[in-house]
This record gives sequence, structure tokens and C-alpha cells, in this order.
Amino acid sequence: MSEKETNQKEETNQKEEKTNQIHPSHKEMLKKVTLNISEQEKPSKRKIQGVKPQLQWLNYQPQNLPKYQKYSSDEIAKHNKPSDCWIILKGFVYDVTEYAAYHPGGTQLIYKYSGKDATSMFQKIHGYVSIDALLKKVLIGEVLK
Ligand code: HEM
Repeated sequence: MSEKETNQKEETNQKEEKTNQIHPSHKEMLKKVTLNISEQEKPSKRKIQGVKPQLQWLNYQPQNLPKYQKYSSDEIAKHNKPSDCWIILKGFVYDVTEYAAYHPGGTQLIYKYSGKDATSMFQKIHGYVSIDALLKKVLIGEVLK
């Protein structure tokens, strides 16, 4: 390698080093960002295993749901099994048989309220959750008064 070539190589190396350099204040910022990400990625102690992702539920298309109608509480109460699970929320009846597997709070809490009115517990735990956004497609009727 000629002297000129060696000098040129040295120069490009220095340039590259400069562009790779991170400003000290950015270094601090990066450290924080990296820390936040890894904190978020740590599985929460409360996280229930095996829950299917909510986004997947949004794509799910229910089939063969009964025609929208009014149901008596007695009729609703018969749908109290994991394989046939209805829930009452704010006077409306939802077939949550399929949703249960996607519930971030786990299947058991849904099954506990199968065939029953879960409104007050729903509100107490997560009143901010939009029933419409998640369950409109499995709305099957309303409670007969
Ligand atoms: C059938 C209608 C229901 C829907 C659509 C629903 C929806 C949701 C959603 C979207 C979350 C996540 C909230 C968040 O990340 O902030 C959640 C969490 C939760 N839900 Fe429900 N829920 C329903 C019924 C219930 C019922 C009846 C109970 C209790 C008896 C319950 C108990 C919980 C609990 C404890 C969590 C927290 C899970 C955790 O973060 O560890 N849910 N639910």
C-alpha cells in the first residue's frame, strides 16, 4: 500500500469513527430507552399464560350465532358451560364462548360469570374497556324484562 493510500484509509477510518460516535447526552437517552424496553418486555407477574392475543380476536369472524332476540334470565342461565357460554353486560347478552380464550384476565373469570350478569364486576375491574369494540360481533340479544 502506498503512503497516499494508507493516509486515505486512515482518513476514512477517522470519519467513520466520528459518525459512529454518540453524543454523551444521547448515550444517556439511549440507555433510558433500552432500559424501558427491557422493563416492558419482562413478563408481568400477573400475566396469565396461554391467552390468545386481542388483535387476533379483532380479526375473528364468529359463525352460526343465533338471531338477535330477547332472552329471559332463565334461558340465559342455561348457557353456563365453557362450550356454550353467554354473559350479560348492561342488559345485553353476549356469546363469549369464543372470546374466553382471548380474555386477558383468563378464561376462568369469564366462566365464573357464564349464564350470569357480569356488569358490576366488569365495571369494577375495567370500566374503561369498550364492550362495543370487543363484543359487538358476538352480541346475540337483550335481557327480557
Ligand atoms: C366478557 C366480557 C369481558 C371483556 C370483553 C373483558 C376484556 C378485558 C380486557 C380488554 C382486559 C385487558 C385490560 C387491560 O389490559 O387494561 C381485561 C383484563 C381483565 N379482566 Fe376482563 N373482560 C371481560 C369480563 C371480565 C370479567 C367478568 C372479569 C371478572 C370477573 C374480568 C376480569 C379481568 C381481570 C382481572 C383482568 C386483568 C388481567 C391482568 O391484567 O392481569 N373480565 N379484560
